[in-house]
Amino acid sequence: MHENRTVQTKNGDSIILRPALVTEAEDLLNAFKEILPTSPYILSTVESAATKTVETQVKWITAANEDPRSALIIAEHQGRIVGITNMAAFKDSKRSHRAGLGMSVHHDYRGRGLGEALLRRLIEVAQTLEGLRFLELNVMSANKVAHRLYLKLGFKQIGYQELAYRQPDGTFTDDICMCLDLTARP
Ligand SMILES: CC(C)(COP(=O)(O)OP(=O)(O)OC[C@H]1O[C@@H](n2cnc3c(N)ncnc32)[C@H](O)[C@@H]1OP(=O)(O)O)[C@@H](O)C(=O)NCCC(=O)NCCS
Repeated sequence: MHENRTVQTKNGDSIILRPALVTEAEDLLNAFKEILPTSPYILSTVESAATKTVETQVKWITAANEDPRSALIIAEHQGRIVGITNMAAFKDSKRSHRAGLGMSVHHDYRGRGLGEALLRRLIEVAQTLEGLRFLELNVMSANKVAHRLYLKLGFKQIGYQELAYRQPDGTFTDDICMCLDLTARP
């Protein structure tokens, strides 16, 4: 499993980036529920998160920590979970060199470099995983902040689908598919 790292945000907070513990399943669920109302561009919704249980979180954390082709990294500040990123490789052999990722930062901590630090750490961990070549993701075109972050860290746009997402208010958003070739990075 990956090691702990400490990073400084732009406003000087010291944040620990580390694996999540199964004993933190409830805290992780609560942190995610807190992040959701200010994250309209991720697939989970307040309603879908309400159906998640501590048991499902325990399974998720265990799978991420035990599977050598997955990783779950949390950002901790003063005992509080303020950011989450994860990746998981496809299980079938023909796509096992590709892993999908997700990430979110608590709204109080955005715009301070934490998202970038989390993603840089995830990429670093991905580069140590045997046989993994691509990190990939889907981002809603309206999610300018995330799109810019991914471009900044070297992800390339490899696909585009119009009207791929329908928001609760009935408006549609396009999908941008992005990919990072881990072998093309130093
Ligand atoms: C996307 C997200 C993880 C970014 O985290 P963050 O901590 O706010 O980002 P950072 O402060 O590290 O900024 C990194 C880069 O993102 C972009 N960015 C950050 N804030 C931005 C803003 N307000 N406007 C435009 N770009 C912005 C910039 O490229 C920035 O680099 P720069 O500082 O050199 O300009 C965060 O906004 C979030 O959790 N959003 C809700 C969940 C979500 O949408 N997740 C992604 C799903 S695909």
